[in-house]
Amino acid sequence: MKVITARKYGTPDVFRLENWESPSPQKNEIRIKNHNSAVNSGDWRIRKPDPKAVRLFFGILKPRKPVLGISFAGVVDAIGENVTKFQIGDKVFGSAGMQMGTYAEYFCIKESSVMTILPKEISFSEGAALSFGSLTALDFVQKCNIQKNQTMIIYGASSSVGTAAIQIAKHFGAVVTAVCSVGNFSLVQSIGADYVMDYTGFHSEPHNTTYDIVFECVGKSSISSNLKHLKKGGVLVLVGASFKEMFQAAWISLTKGINIKFGPISETIENLNFIAELTRKGEFKVVIDKSFPLEAMSAAHEYVEAGHKKGNVVIDITN
Ligand SMILES: NC(=O)c1ccc[n+]([C@@H]2O[C@H](COP(=O)([O-])OP(=O)(O)OC[C@H]3O[C@@H](n4cnc5c(N)ncnc54)[C@H](OP(=O)(O)O)[C@@H]3O)[C@@H](O)[C@H]2O)c1
Repeated sequence: MKVITARKYGTPDVFRLENWESPSPQKNEIRIKNHNSAVNSGDWRIRKPDPKAVRLFFGILKPRKPVLGISFAGVVDAIGENVTKFQIGDKVFGSAGMQMGTYAEYFCIKESSVMTILPKEISFSEGAALSFGSLTALDFVQKCNIQKNQTMIIYGASSSVGTAAIQIAKHFGAVVTAVCSVGNFSLVQSIGADYVMDYTGFHSEPHNTTYDIVFECVGKSSISSNLKHLKKGGVLVLVGASFKEMFQAAWISLTKGINIKFGPISETIENLNFIAELTRKGEFKVVIDKSFPLEAMSAAHEYVEAGHKKGNVVIDITN
């Protein structure tokens, strides 16, 4: 089978195409014939690594697991003897999490992982694009406990997390202002944003409006500028907070009593099913910018790391 390996950390050109034996599932694992993976911001951060602390978790000198890749959608083609949840032929999608390994034609994964049946209304490429930004946005939106007609400003609204957050917030009844570049206004309006604002100069111009929820998706604006837009008693979400910002946020929460949400999300099967159901019903549309063949992994990483994708980037494995 074809796999893409990163045998050292570094720039996007570290990737190599290799031929491996297909793996056999352990007792509690299924083997997936992978149709699509995705390249998310988490993927290039591990490859680079950025922040450097990634090495503590993924290997000090080189990646402990040479096959990266978190998201997937494919077909179950072998099962371990103790597997009960899935059958050969099931179409599935989800997140391999920190186990990774989805930049490959086949991989094995525990049946208890964050994956679920791919509804027939959802394509493999949509399935692969669904697990990263949507699970992140849903987890943080749940933490905000949105009430109908509450106002929410989403900064970095054209990102993977942002495009999902707009739709999930609308589902829960929020009035959404999306902050993105002018070129992405029509995209964010097409998925439900009520108001749009240009991010260029956003923080240098005076904006007196305050919001119930300030949802910073891309870690590109300071905590102090976000707090200027937060209503008293509101919630500030920092999806892409650096370690330094996390300490700052914890201090502000403690000393000023401001409700700030940050930190790693919990990926759950319940939330994956929730997103799958919204998508199946046509209430959620995952945004796909581009797809690249497996062999073009370096180009895909270069594109995603540049930081200007719209929604998600998908990897085609079966072509
Ligand atoms: N807490 C967690 O567990 C968790 C989980 C997942 C992701 N994250 C973090 O969430 C962040 C977002 O990830 P993502 O994959 O959704 O990002 P992404 O899709 O890679 O973000 C790209 C988008 O950001 C926009 N952008 C770039 N500069 C901007 C600026 N100055 N102001 C506003 N928008 C700007 C770009 O629009 P233009 O092309 O118009 O510039 C582009 O559409 C990352 O920092 C990631 O590490 C955290």
